[in-house]
Amino acid sequence: MTDSTDGTASADTAHRADRADRADSPTLRERLRALPVFGADLPGLDVDAAPDDPVTLFVDWLEDAVAAGVAAPHAATLSTADARGRVDARTLLLKDVGPAGWSFATRSDSPKGVALAENPHAALTFLWRERGRQVRVRGPVVPLGAEASAADFLARSELSRATALAGHQSATLASRRDYRAAWDAALARVRTEPETVLDTWTAYALEATTVEFWASSPGDGQARLRYTTSATAPRPGDEPSPGWTKELLWP
Ligand SMILES: Cc1cc2nc3c(=O)[nH]c(=O)nc-3n(C[C@H](O)[C@H](O)[C@H](O)COP(=O)(O)O)c2cc1C
Repeated sequence: MTDSTDGTASADTAHRADRADRADSPTLRERLRALPVFGADLPGLDVDAAPDDPVTLFVDWLEDAVAAGVAAPHAATLSTADARGRVDARTLLLKDVGPAGWSFATRSDSPKGVALAENPHAALTFLWRERGRQVRVRGPVVPLGAEASAADFLARSELSRATALAGHQSATLASRRDYRAAWDAALARVRTEPETVLDTWTAYALEATTVEFWASSPGDGQARLRYTTSATAPRPGDEPSPGWTKELLWP
């Protein structure tokens, strides 16, 4: 490295070199445009082979994502709107899918829990990027009751239960130290009283009224298939559901 007696001149040179570097390097906008979106060898969507029931197709795609090693294939974005129509969205983990709907769990006193109590209409969006697939599920959300909620809570890891018990989700936190103290106390409680259940912990099911499957496949463009029903999930003793209507959508 050359020693310089003129600090200003060398600073100017460095500044010019930095500007030249930046002129050569792509802008953020250019880099975003060049980023890859999907993986290779996408499975696409065979609309002619699609089953009559979207749950079957959803489980098929979820199993495909698991087998392909997609990270957190059970993570979805839950979108809600409160009574005033203010929309919010956050990531959640899917707990199960079946005739009762798409289930997840959270606190009923969290912002999303409060929004769902005011307005049960919600959407879950799954993205399996590496497989070029997206699924959008829409419909009303119903709480699954105390027993299912407690079972979900007790099936969580000790650390997750401690996190839930430590404090009020989404409330303002004064400091990380406060959090750490509350979390340590909650973890100790979980370990000494393993049957403790957070009373606001709630398992919910989204009873789908529309389920839309989107797939990209190289050489075949994009495909969209929407399932719609006017019926909500069957309850014990209900008449069988009238079924689903399938429609293609313009991508
Ligand atoms: C991958 C991932 C999974 C998550 N899973 C859950 C979950 O199952 N339940 C939950 O209450 N929050 C979960 N969260 C946290 C939520 O995204 C959110 O921060 C929290 O629930 C507060 O949301 P709210 O303020 O809209 O109520 C998860 C976050 C991530 C990134």
